[in-house]
Amino acid sequence: MIRTLTQAELEAEGETLGRSLQPGALLALEGELGAGKTTFIKAIARGLGVAGAASSPTYALVHRYAGRRGPVFHLDCFRLRSPAEAADLDWEGLLADGDAILVEWPERAGEWLPAPTRRFRLHHLADPDRRGLEVV
Ligand SMILES: Nc1ncnc2c1ncn2[C@@H]1O[C@H](COP(=O)(O)OP(=O)(O)O)[C@@H](O)[C@H]1O
Ligand SMILES: [Mg+2]
Repeated sequence: MIRTLTQAELEAEGETLGRSLQPGALLALEGELGAGKTTFIKAIARGLGVAGAASSPTYALVHRYAGRRGPVFHLDCFRLRSPAEAADLDWEGLLADGDAILVEWPERAGEWLPAPTRRFRLHHLADPDRRGLEVV
C-alpha cells in the first residue's frame, strides 16, 4: 500500500516513527532523487531526539547525530560508486553504537547492507506537493 502524503504529513509520520523505534533499528529508505528520503530521515531523527540535523554537510557518506538515547547514524549510500565500497564501512560499529541507522539508497550497498528492521520506498507522484510512502 502506498500512502499519499504532503511534506508536513510525511514529516509528522517520520517523527512519530522515530519516537517509536526500538534501540538498534536499521531503516532502509529507497526511492528516486527528490522523492523525500532525506526529508523523511530528518523527521525520524527529530523523533529520536536529534536537534539540528539539517546543518550536516551533504557530501558525507555517514552523518552522526546525537539522539535522545544515543548516536543516530544517517548513511547516504548515493555516494558509493560500487557495493564493494560498502565493505569499507564499519557496519559492526554502527550496529553496536547506533540507537538507529537510517540508510538512503540502501540498494547501492548491495549485500553489505545488514538486514533492515524496516524498509520504505518513497515515490514521486503527479502532484508535486505530495509523495507516496510505501512500506516494502
Ligand atoms: N510531500 C512531500 N514529501 C517530501 N518532500 C517533499 C514533498 N513535497 C515536496 N517535497 C520536496 O521534495 C524534496 C525532497 O528532497 P529530499 O528529501 O532531499 O529527497 P531525496 O533524499 O529522496 O533525494 C524537498 O525539496 C522537499 O521540500
Ligand atoms: Mg537524499
